[in-house]
Amino acid sequence: MHLPDEAALHGVAAALWKVLSGGLVFYFQGPVGAGKTAFIRQVLRSAGIKGAIRSPTYTLVELYTQSNLYLYHYDLYRFFDPFEWVSSGFDEFFNNASVAFIEWPEKAQGVLPPADILVAMDYAGDGRSFNATALSQKGLQCLISWKNELA
Ligand SMILES: Nc1ncnc2c1ncn2[C@@H]1O[C@H](COP(=O)(O)OP(=O)(O)OP(=O)(O)O)[C@@H](O)[C@H]1O
Ligand SMILES: [Mg+2]
Repeated sequence: MHLPDEAALHGVAAALWKVLSGGLVFYFQGPVGAGKTAFIRQVLRSAGIKGAIRSPTYTLVELYTQSNLYLYHYDLYRFFDPFEWVSSGFDEFFNNASVAFIEWPEKAQGVLPPADILVAMDYAGDGRSFNATALSQKGLQCLISWKNELA
């Protein structure tokens, strides 16, 4: 998809929240400033999260709870030691009641759970390109509902 402005991004994010269910892992790829955080923030806003939604650049992860879901927002840009992942217990966060939105997954290659949906964002003129790919059956179900929501 082409997202000419942030309003378009918000629409795509709101549609995802409507169809979101537990047990999904999303990877977000794209250069600095592509809009990964902007997108995840809008999903959380659509979920009804009030107050500041900060980029977890230094904390690595922020947790939000809504509608019986645990919504984890990761930014692994400053993640350097794979063993940190194991020792931090991040692994335990992934279960059927949780959704993980992971920015910079390539920084923690080999220790992350596999993605159900891969989102790739990039600069495109004054806007952004947005590309979502399903990598599991569960991811495909979500992607189909998400797309229907946008139709
Ligand atoms: N169509 C668009 N979609 C998303 N963001 C847009 C769009 N147009 C402009 N922007 C702007 O682009 C910026 C995206 O910044 P954001 O922090 O979301 O990037 P990021 O991909 O998370 O970068 P980082 O790798 O540093 O975490 C914001 O300032 C946002 O307002
Ligand atoms: Mg970001």
